[in-house]
Amino acid sequence: MKALKERIMSEGRCLPGGILKVDVFINHQMGPVLMEEMAEEFVRRFEDVRVDKVLTIEASGIAPAIMVGYLLKKPVVFAKKNKPSTMGDFYVTKVFSFTKNREYDVCLSKAYVNEGDHVLFIDDFLANGNAAAAILDLMSQAGATISGMGFLIEKHFQAGGAMLRSSGIRVESLAIIDSLEDCRIRFKE
Ligand code: G4P
Repeated sequence: MKALKERIMSEGRCLPGGILKVDVFINHQMGPVLMEEMAEEFVRRFEDVRVDKVLTIEASGIAPAIMVGYLLKKPVVFAKKNKPSTMGDFYVTKVFSFTKNREYDVCLSKAYVNEGDHVLFIDDFLANGNAAAAILDLMSQAGATISGMGFLIEKHFQAGGAMLRSSGIRVESLAIIDSLEDCRIRFKE
């Protein structure tokens, strides 16, 4: 997606270790106009699949997911990284974060995803695919179907995209980064 790639080139910063910092318009400050354009692009790309609910995981997935849910007029559910004391019956799985080097629980109330639901997962980054794998596990526990997974930015040099595509998941990424070597941003054509 041209507008996103241009924004990454003009405002993104490369950090050592293959990290792309996009705090200016995605991960800290957020650009609602671009968010809306990105959501429209997801709606276009997934127009042929059934979506009953939009699903994401806190925190940075919530903004793009709510925009997609708004356009589709479907509920948006976010998986939580800590179990709130008020949550009743829930599905739970573990995620290992490479960037934070620790494992944490991800929970989803059984009230919000039901057997037979067709769910579109939206997130900001696809890197190692740990968050996505956790969602696959939660959806399998729920008996729900993943209609597709949409990411704002996919880091193609990390394993997540290949893992998801080889397991038959429909993946749509709006900007695919081929390399961040030498702190230069290169997109996959
Ligand atoms: P995953 O996102 O594919 O599961 O992979 P990984 O475990 O490697 O990522 C851990 C966290 O780091 C995720 O955020 C992910 O979105 C984020 N991340 C990975 N690579 C980059 C990058 O190059 N730039 C930025 N800005 N973030 C990256 P999180 O901690 O789960 O979520 P959140 O609370 O920040 O939303």
